[in-house]
Amino acid sequence: MDDNRGMNVHKGAQMLELTEKGDERGHLVIIEGEEDIPFKIARIFYIYGSDSEVIRGNHANRKSQFVLINVAGSSKVKVKDGKGNETIYALNRPHTGIYLPKMIWKEMYEFSPDSVLLCISDQHYDAEEYIRDYDEFLKIVNG
Ligand code: TYD
Repeated sequence: MDDNRGMNVHKGAQMLELTEKGDERGHLVIIEGEEDIPFKIARIFYIYGSDSEVIRGNHANRKSQFVLINVAGSSKVKVKDGKGNETIYALNRPHTGIYLPKMIWKEMYEFSPDSVLLCISDQHYDAEEYIRDYDEFLKIVNG
């Protein structure tokens, strides 16, 4: 977010614990834009049926922020800031997500057979804002 309204401003990738309401009937996880995640929701997509050897993502986004949640199964997300910092996050709970700011390199991999990776973004799809070449990403973030 560009201002301080809503939840705390997030500058870097970080795990998010989502609101979960559980009772004897089961679980319910709530994701409200600008409340449970730090942006208005413009787009939702989900990824499933990826083999454990597949690496998805492999891009950075000039504009899009994301929250990723394995609503079923598990996967890993490697993020790189292009300045030497690299972190691997494990997604394996329907109520735990990862927030990814714009201009961060991401790779999703080690999908479990039952993985359903829910991806939420603040931007509509625009292929032009995807940076799919790592060297180009490095040039941009390092000036
Ligand atoms: P891609 O970006 O390669 O997926 P991932 O980064 O998760 O591995 O997208 C796969 C295809 O789907 C590609 O042709 C672009 C298209 N696509 C859309 O049309 N809209 C979207 O919101 C997304 C994420 C992808």
